[in-house]
Amino acid sequence: MDTSLALRRAFGKFATGVAVVTTSGPDDAPYGLTINSFSSVSLTPPLVLWSLTNKSPNLEVFRNASHFAINILASQQREICNQFASPIDDRFAGVDWFRGVNDLPVIRNTIATFECRRTQMVDAGDHVVFFGEVKECEQSDLEPLVFFAGQFGTTQSAL
Ligand SMILES: Cc1cc2nc3c(=O)[nH]c(=O)nc-3n(C[C@H](O)[C@H](O)[C@H](O)COP(=O)(O)O)c2cc1C
Repeated sequence: MDTSLALRRAFGKFATGVAVVTTSGPDDAPYGLTINSFSSVSLTPPLVLWSLTNKSPNLEVFRNASHFAINILASQQREICNQFASPIDDRFAGVDWFRGVNDLPVIRNTIATFECRRTQMVDAGDHVVFFGEVKECEQSDLEPLVFFAGQFGTTQSAL
């Protein structure tokens, strides 16, 4: 077996939630993509991180943005997950969202959101790790969308 495939398979054994990270571009347009690299880092100060492949066409937008928002998807938001992982022109089409802190695009009906001021950016291999300080957060009791071994599920189906 090819080593990178073995590594991908092993990485995939860490069950995660699914999020869409968003920001507002220099043109004020909303930008975003699906991620599962989100992690909470610190309570005091409140810090989070996520990582972006350095092949992303959105790399410069996120590098230049002072803020980003993490939108943690609910189980019924599979379509939003697919939309923000696809190379389509308008990923926000048909999505219910509003402008939050610093004009950040915030998606409605998620299970949690973190509106963050970007702090450090660290080049790490083929990804860039973005750290942010949480300025606003919300959460709900909806069920999460779960990603495990390349498949989507819910906490109900995973139990
Ligand atoms: C469940 C899931 C998790 C993903 N996690 C990440 C991630 O953490 N970082 C990343 O750079 N891409 C991740 N991707 C891939 C991007 O969503 C996908 O490549 C998208 O096309 C990137 O948009 P961009 O090319 O406009 O940057 C993930 C995709 C899926 C479906």
